[in-house]
Amino acid sequence: MAAARRDGRWIGFVPTMGALHVAHISLIEAAKRDDTFVVVSIFVNPTQFGPNEDFKNYPRDETADLVTCRRANVDLVFIPPVEEMYPPESATAVHVSRLTETLCGVGRPGHFDGVTTVVTKLLNIVQPDSAYFGQKDAQQLAVIRRMVRDLNMPIEILDCPTVREADGLAVSSRNVCLNKSQREQATCLYRALNEAKTLIKSGQTDGVAVVDAMRQIIEDADQTSIEYISVVDPASMQPVKRIERRVLIALAARIGKTRLIDNLQVDPRSRLG
Ligand code: PAJ
Repeated sequence: MAAARRDGRWIGFVPTMGALHVAHISLIEAAKRDDTFVVVSIFVNPTQFGPNEDFKNYPRDETADLVTCRRANVDLVFIPPVEEMYPPESATAVHVSRLTETLCGVGRPGHFDGVTTVVTKLLNIVQPDSAYFGQKDAQQLAVIRRMVRDLNMPIEILDCPTVREADGLAVSSRNVCLNKSQREQATCLYRALNEAKTLIKSGQTDGVAVVDAMRQIIEDADQTSIEYISVVDPASMQPVKRIERRVLIALAARIGKTRLIDNLQVDPRSRLG
């Protein structure tokens, strides 16, 4: 990496928790398209999982991930051990306020502190010029953008579109946890998001009405329980009552025991997105 830097190459960084899939590859490809020296980190970060969450069961497959990275022409893979990232004496965390207090921040207290702390550490270690994140995790993206600005980190944060399966389900490392019938039910999430888009595009401005219509679709599917459905401002993550400009429709739900999140941005004034 030092040689690449000396040669004047840009360093493009894709942080991941491994179990690499097509969406991770799409981030790597974006970094490749920008002609960067591509660094991928694989680190299942314990501090972003709550005590009753799936840290232990989170899918891990280092061998397959290394094959995926090689095939995608990644220049460097960084796989730090937990003890090196978090030695017992470490005493510092990074906290972003306000926009971590809505959506996933409500049901996963401390989650975003774990994300911002590990991303800061990874950015400090790798020292990239640009870092790539998926729109699938829209709140994470907004929180990281805020942090990078607030802490004057000299890094460009780039976002990549959500990659979906053919039936619309957002690709996720956790999708492997769904059995066949749950996998079928899981399509209700994207259907609900599309219903929201249709309603907003046809003039519905009442955020509550949009959320109610989505709730109906998800509740009609079996084995689903909704954690939240929200219409928020895409930058501040604060709820929007009247939909008059671009909004983020975000949701989290359990299908069986598996927690999935998804979102869609909708602009009532634009005929496209
Ligand atoms: P992970 O869930 O492995 O995701 C790594 C990156 O891939 C994130 O930027 C995420 O938004 C993106 N991604 C995942 N699924 C996607 C999809 N269907 N479409 C587009 N992008 C997708 O997010 C994390 O890891 C961690 O929180 C991390 C940032 C690495 C910090 O530990």
